Amino acid sequence: MRICIRGGWVVDPKRAQGYQADVLLEGDRITAIAPDLDAPGAADVDARGCYVTPGLVDIHVHLRDPGFPDKETIASGSRAAAAGGVTSVVCMPNTRPAIDHPDVVRYVKETAAAASVVRVYPAGAMTKGQQGTEMTDFRALAEAGVVTFTEDGKSVMDPLVLMQAFTAAAELGMPITSHCEDHHLVRTGAMHRGWVSERLGDPGIPALAEDLIVARDILFAQHTGARLHIQHVTTESAVQLIREAKARGVKVTAEATPHHFSLTHEVLLEHGALAKVNPPLRTQRDVDAVVAGLMDGTIDAIATDHAPHTWEEKQQGLAAAPFGFVGLETLVGVTFTHLVHTGKLSVPEVIAKLTVNPARIMGLPEPRLEAGAVADVTVIDPNLEWVVDPTSFETRAKHSPMAGMRLRGKPVYTFVGGRMVYAHGRGILS
Ligand code: DOR
Repeated sequence: MRICIRGGWVVDPKRAQGYQADVLLEGDRITAIAPDLDAPGAADVDARGCYVTPGLVDIHVHLRDPGFPDKETIASGSRAAAAGGVTSVVCMPNTRPAIDHPDVVRYVKETAAAASVVRVYPAGAMTKGQQGTEMTDFRALAEAGVVTFTEDGKSVMDPLVLMQAFTAAAELGMPITSHCEDHHLVRTGAMHRGWVSERLGDPGIPALAEDLIVARDILFAQHTGARLHIQHVTTESAVQLIREAKARGVKVTAEATPHHFSLTHEVLLEHGALAKVNPPLRTQRDVDAVVAGLMDGTIDAIATDHAPHTWEEKQQGLAAAPFGFVGLETLVGVTFTHLVHTGKLSVPEVIAKLTVNPARIMGLPEPRLEAGAVADVTVIDPNLEWVVDPTSFETRAKHSPMAGMRLRGKPVYTFVGGRMVYAHGRGILS
């Protein structure tokens, strides 16, 4: 199969400037990039007015498989990824059973090989059953194919277990990926502690719950030499702690989610539990700090924390509904609307945070846009305006606090290994 992506603006993360060219895909490779390519027999794809980028890499995705097929499966989550322009995902281990044993890693990899339209890299749990008490066998999990260790969804609270985990990760040269929330302070809170939580009668989750664990884990990284990746940063102080740690030479990286750099806790007044997420949506001041962190490089990557739950679960009221909502299919729209069209970040900067930076953090193959590279490619129309309609999502969770939002920017084609897996207007092609 030969496909020629014609006339787009090529964004190669290795170059400061993009350039207009055709991109030829043959088999599973990019074989040529040049203006006006002569490509007899190739199917032409019109990319005029669009950016042609390496396939996007989302290092924070819940595929819910094994265990929660009503929420998502590897197949359905992978389709949501493809529709979002994402060609590689790192999937989180809070499944049932948890990804805490090589057999579960093998299940995820085999199921992905059979049913996924994108590349799937599993993350391994830090503790058995994610109970926080007994470390998993990091070496065995690494040999089975996990790319990082994380207790995602919560923090391990026992410092002795953490010491062992950070030490083992340092020995393996692999990152610890940290969800930073002290559950002693989260307690029964469903949202950021502030005026909205007071009005809604919720106990709230203080910013300190996050800041404490960010500070703690930075110290663990500093003392053990392990690489630490901090997930979904949301508070002004957490951004500052990471900024200072980087300046001291601590091996720490960080990600922000589109919802945390675009929405505030006020959204819960309208959307209630549909906007319940942890860490929670916070204040405008925090949002501004997260954006500043993205702008000055303190925050390296953009990741979705795509966290599907059923409609019924999310209708149980603020206190009882589970935390989390979906994000794969709004990733590009929210990012372009809030970071690119506002002039906060350039397109190459944003694409780096969606491709090379997250890949480097997780030790994944380097996303490249050059002859010889694997043909994982995303075509983004930066000016396509659309209104978020979750009923049209590929994910099984067809609801979002972003419903009705007008966004500008959308992936229009997604290629994985040279195969077109998504086209705007046609949907998933598999
Ligand atoms: O809101 C969230 N939901 N945050 C997480 O970190 C985990 C996720 C989930 O698994 O539902």
